[in-house]
Amino acid sequence: MPADPPAALPRHVAIVMDGNGRWAKRQGMHRTFGHAAGEEALYRVVDAAIDLGLEALTVYGFSTENWTRPEEEVAYLMGLPGEVVAKRMAELHRRNVRVVVAGRRDGRVPASVLDHIDDAVARTATNTGLTFCIAFNYGGRAEITDAVRAILAKGLSPEEVDQDTISAHLYVPELPDPDLVIRTSGEVRWSNFLLWQAAYAEFVFVDTLWPDFRREHLVAALDEYARRERRFGGV
Ligand code: FPP
Repeated sequence: MPADPPAALPRHVAIVMDGNGRWAKRQGMHRTFGHAAGEEALYRVVDAAIDLGLEALTVYGFSTENWTRPEEEVAYLMGLPGEVVAKRMAELHRRNVRVVVAGRRDGRVPASVLDHIDDAVARTATNTGLTFCIAFNYGGRAEITDAVRAILAKGLSPEEVDQDTISAHLYVPELPDPDLVIRTSGEVRWSNFLLWQAAYAEFVFVDTLWPDFRREHLVAALDEYARRERRFGGV
């Protein structure tokens, strides 16, 4: 596998971190063990993203569909973003990372989790390095629905609404669209992730389960991206 970043670097990489459950099961362990290993993998990848000079990294931490999982697993996943940012806050801050969160702030997310998230977002708001976006209680259709609601609430007329208006009302409007979406674990699905933003993204699917994902896998995906010819609907 290549060790160096390729020349044509994407500005924004988004990752569906899939395979935690299967990784744990293979070792005869509970699914939450896989999520804990997934958290470690995530940190290594954040580290690599900083080193490689990416502008933004978005990860799918919890989807609007994940509420149907067993109660114990949901409770564990709910605790992760707060834990992730609290445990690594000093390091993230020192490395000039700006933390942002994309998702619905509905009543199902515990207030303590929202407090942790808000604190991390506020404390890192003026950092100018990597933007690290955690998609949490996130769904692409929910995001577009929320954008439409926000536009209607402002009383805009149909003629005033174009694609830029929709983009401006997404959860984190200042993020550039993702250039590259990576999904691990061999599943070849989109799963309601950044539906609007990834309209022209390149997709790379890798068989590696998320807890085994390393810098080398990221570099290999970037390398694959650099070999693609992006045409954005043109010729
Ligand atoms: C999908 O694998 C993974 C998740 C639903 C959770 C991802 C969470 C982490 C990687 C930990 C870090 C989290 C945050 C919020 C920063 P799966 O459980 O569907 O695995 P399976 O397909 O093998 O069952």
